[in-house]
Amino acid sequence: MNMVDKKLQDIKEEVMQGEIKPETNAKTDSKIEKPAEKAKPKKPRVIAVLSGKGGVGKTTLTANLGAALAYDYNRNVVAVDANTTSAGLGLYLGEYFYKNTINDVIKRGIDLSEALYCHPSGLKLLPASADIADSDADPKKIKQVVDIVSTYSDFVLLDCPPTLGDETTSGIEASNECIVVVNPEWASLLEAKRTIDYVSSKKKSVLGLVLNRTNGDIDEYYVKNVEEVLNSPVLAIIPEDNYVKDSIEKRVPVVHLHPKSEASRNMKVLLEKITGQAFPKRKGFWQTLFGM
Ligand SMILES: Nc1ncnc2c1ncn2[C@@H]1O[C@H](COP(=O)(O)OP(=O)(O)OP(=O)(O)O)[C@@H](O)[C@H]1O
Ligand SMILES: [Mg+2]
Repeated sequence: MNMVDKKLQDIKEEVMQGEIKPETNAKTDSKIEKPAEKAKPKKPRVIAVLSGKGGVGKTTLTANLGAALAYDYNRNVVAVDANTTSAGLGLYLGEYFYKNTINDVIKRGIDLSEALYCHPSGLKLLPASADIADSDADPKKIKQVVDIVSTYSDFVLLDCPPTLGDETTSGIEASNECIVVVNPEWASLLEAKRTIDYVSSKKKSVLGLVLNRTNGDIDEYYVKNVEEVLNSPVLAIIPEDNYVKDSIEKRVPVVHLHPKSEASRNMKVLLEKITGQAFPKRKGFWQTLFGM
């Protein structure tokens, strides 16, 4: 066992004994604060957000599902950027550079608690490094890290890269379920098929598909076709929506920035299917944040 593996193993043992605590005085360049909660072991749902083709909306969806599960459903959620060579999730949630990342956990064996950041929604983020010098972090260790994170979460969401490289396959191995994001074009659907076939071969459950960035042309017949070709149910249809672009520019999940937008309403339908619970009626995110 090398030094990093040993460190990961030690952290895991500490977590299992319920002793790990976030490093509250660790310095961070990020405005996002460190989590203050103590670890609590539970049976987690580890959901990989996958696609075949790139750029279909995985990171957007992960950020929104994570923020809503944490804030609206009040669950203990960690969103992990499994893109160790092309970070993205952290940016969608507020910052580009993070002092400590999953790459540091893998490469240098730093404590996970030092690389977890608490988003205002309550979501905990394990970002990836945007520094090209960190891209040599061994992607096969993503699973080890996720296994540890999952010991103190209700949900772990893995924002995976496109294609079936080591980062994605390690993420799939760490997960017990997955959601596959597709766009309404055949290239996206066919590449997703390869991913679904791979996931099935690993005996992992495909919760279903998210048909993202649709226009008015999608009808029942089209949806049925997609379900047949990919042998998976369409869980949600999220239209092309300029409010999504606006939310990414402002680095605030659209479910909270524009909760009544069409994209948000459809993401809430997806959340209801994932949790099996109606979307909770809570005070608006901004009202709570600013004490209105
Ligand atoms: N429903 C939507 N409406 C409008 N724009 C969207 C929607 N969903 C995603 N986008 C846009 O699509 C682009 C790609 O989204 P995102 O980064 O989430 O994709 P990705 O699948 O994570 O990409 P990659 O494979 O490169 O990681 C973003 O610029 C985002 O603004
Ligand atoms: Mg992405």
